[in-house]
Amino acid sequence: MIKVDLSGAVPFWDAAGPDYAAAAAAHRTFSEKSGEGADFTGWTELPQRVTAFELDRIKAAASRIQAMGDVLVVVGIGGSYLGARAAYDLLGQKEGGVELLFAGCGLSACSLEDTIRRLGDRDFCINVVSKSGTTLEPALGFRIFKDLLEKKYGREEASKRIFATTDAVRGALKSAANEAGWETFVVPDDVGGRYSVLSAVGLLPMAAAGIDVDTVIREAEHCFRVLDERSPENPCWQYAAARQLLYRRGKTIEILGCYEPRFRMMAEWWKQLYGESEGKQGVGIFPASVEFNADLHSMGQYIQDGPRTLMETIVSFEKTSSSYLVPREEKDADGLNYLAGHDLNEIAAVARQAVKAAHIAGGVPNIGVQVSAMDEKGFAELVCFFELSCAISGYMLGINPFDQPGVEAYKKNMFRMLGQWK
Ligand code: PA5
Repeated sequence: MIKVDLSGAVPFWDAAGPDYAAAAAAHRTFSEKSGEGADFTGWTELPQRVTAFELDRIKAAASRIQAMGDVLVVVGIGGSYLGARAAYDLLGQKEGGVELLFAGCGLSACSLEDTIRRLGDRDFCINVVSKSGTTLEPALGFRIFKDLLEKKYGREEASKRIFATTDAVRGALKSAANEAGWETFVVPDDVGGRYSVLSAVGLLPMAAAGIDVDTVIREAEHCFRVLDERSPENPCWQYAAARQLLYRRGKTIEILGCYEPRFRMMAEWWKQLYGESEGKQGVGIFPASVEFNADLHSMGQYIQDGPRTLMETIVSFEKTSSSYLVPREEKDADGLNYLAGHDLNEIAAVARQAVKAAHIAGGVPNIGVQVSAMDEKGFAELVCFFELSCAISGYMLGINPFDQPGVEAYKKNMFRMLGQWK
């Protein structure tokens, strides 16, 4: 199970420490569904709600995708994309799985061309994911890849290669799927996009890539059960209460860092989760991310020496599946032979300690989040931990962590401006 280490944050608050009574109240508000946005709290139930039949249907669709080609183009944006992308980057394409390419998360023709080039003439299927079915970026992305699919295979064969994940009954995508006979999967009504990775939204692309979704679901169910503990021992309380206390002390920016480059898209998923959930009504911690060691040589300057408005949350993995011993060099031109024979992991552990100490000394509180391993279990732990912590933290902040009214503003403008072309 995830462990939270607050030793690097303790120097930044007084003896009273984090407000666990407020965390308890926020947790209660969430579980009793008595707070704002209670209609969108179905995500903790996803692992126990998914039936064996539905899981089998997801795995059967994944097997068909694997049999039909080498690539699955996943079309979606925001919560309909980042969870699957985070899982794929963290866990990788497994044996027997297809490569995932992602589209529809922007309007860049350049990026679209790159994706089409990477696809090449390989056989492929499409999983279009949109709860509303009306989001412009994925709608256009889908239109483009469906066109390529139909040109390659003809309309009838193409319709067997399209899988739509959307609302159970409403929306343009659902209607199109019904008409064309595409297989559909459901984004549950009571689950918002950024909390949907443990539904078909994330599970179908993961399964297609060969990721073991049975383990993800089993571990997530266990994890949500453990995280229901009502005590300051609960890592979600520790994380939520610590970041809220630090926020009140002027640490308005939280940097999520990890020393594993494979974590990069997980950090993007986290940024959406926390940014969209908390940044409203003029309050909220700004979520940023860094990739260490690389960013120590760029953002490291700002973290060490810039405005003291930062807190840092560092994710680490207890076990790594890889290791590499530093080779000895006869001439020792770089003077590093004293490290020869040491595992890169050992050296990285020392570097992590050195960075932590330097940043704390520089006025940046440090929260440690330790995960078991970079595998299906670790992924499930990260998802459950960050999602529940976000809900608790959001209620502690006094906002509704499940809506996103601010996202509508640009959409209204864009559709008004584009509407003039009608
Ligand atoms: O978390 C959210 O609700 C958003 O990020 C949505 O997932 C995103 O805007 C995409 O919406 P839709 O799935 O309706 O296309």
